[in-house]
Amino acid sequence: MESATGAAPSKLILLGEHAVVYGHPALAVPLSSPSAHAGIALQAGKAQVELVDFDIVWTPFTDGMTAEVIRPFARLLRHFGSELPELPDRGWRLEVRSTIPIGCGLGSGASTAAAALSALCRANGIGLSPEESSRLVFEIEKIHHGTPSGVDNTVICLNTPVLFHKGSPPLQVARPKVPLHIVVADTGIRHKTIEVVSGVAARRAREPQVYDPLIAAIGETAAQGADAFSRGSAPELGKLMDKNQGLLEMIGVSSPELEKLIAAARGAGALGAKLSGAGMGGCMAALAPDPESAARIREALAKAGAALAFVCMMGEEERCARS
Ligand code: PMV
Repeated sequence: MESATGAAPSKLILLGEHAVVYGHPALAVPLSSPSAHAGIALQAGKAQVELVDFDIVWTPFTDGMTAEVIRPFARLLRHFGSELPELPDRGWRLEVRSTIPIGCGLGSGASTAAAALSALCRANGIGLSPEESSRLVFEIEKIHHGTPSGVDNTVICLNTPVLFHKGSPPLQVARPKVPLHIVVADTGIRHKTIEVVSGVAARRAREPQVYDPLIAAIGETAAQGADAFSRGSAPELGKLMDKNQGLLEMIGVSSPELEKLIAAARGAGALGAKLSGAGMGGCMAALAPDPESAARIREALAKAGAALAFVCMMGEEERCARS
């Protein structure tokens, strides 16, 4: 064991959430910021896991689990000694911290797990491919999501835009040739993905003839959007985002707070805007025609009450900034 660090991006679903649970595609991109970070330090005594943002220190091989937030890390450590070589129970400390708001659709669960997995593997000389990391993080995701589609762990561990299709190898999507300017804003309202997803499942079970075509249409926006994304065609992608939002409203996962931010973004010149992630709170994303409009949209979102609003420039490189 030696000291090591690991990091993982957050993620944004541009098109296709919820439909992806039913085997349709979703288009998702990693965001370099906000992000999660983990570090392994060598220390005397029992192994410890510190969740810095929660002010929690857990002694894994001794303590029971006192906090819900520890469960994913307990699951992570179970990978060692089964899928991965066993860890010593003494002599190290794992510190995890993240700037990704929890329960807002930016993939904080998958990202913190991926950062911690990466630090632990590096510290122990274990080489994992992005695909293997993704598979292990997927197991941890089940704690948050119940039956996750796998889009979060895939886009976060592969760290590349993907067109994700449950059950098939993810298709890597080329980064935009012409930069896209995306504004992300958080309603500040936390959602539980598992509850929003099971709400859709219950409504779909009651009225499959209504829900199945809506869900299929959501998937189509993602399939069409991948190409528009790579070409950097903002007007085309914006239209698909608006269409996707309308469909998400129809399956009952939008909310007045999201719609207030979406209206503010459109009013400030967005080419398209939609919720991102599970919905019923959490984040929305808006597509701006240029950097100046992106700054104006970000301001309009802050004025409309967003808890957080930041601009991502997505071209052959990607950069996210809070102001
Ligand atoms: O809000 P998040 O980051 O948990 O995203 C959920 C995305 C869904 O499509 C609604 C669920 C899933 O498992 O893909």
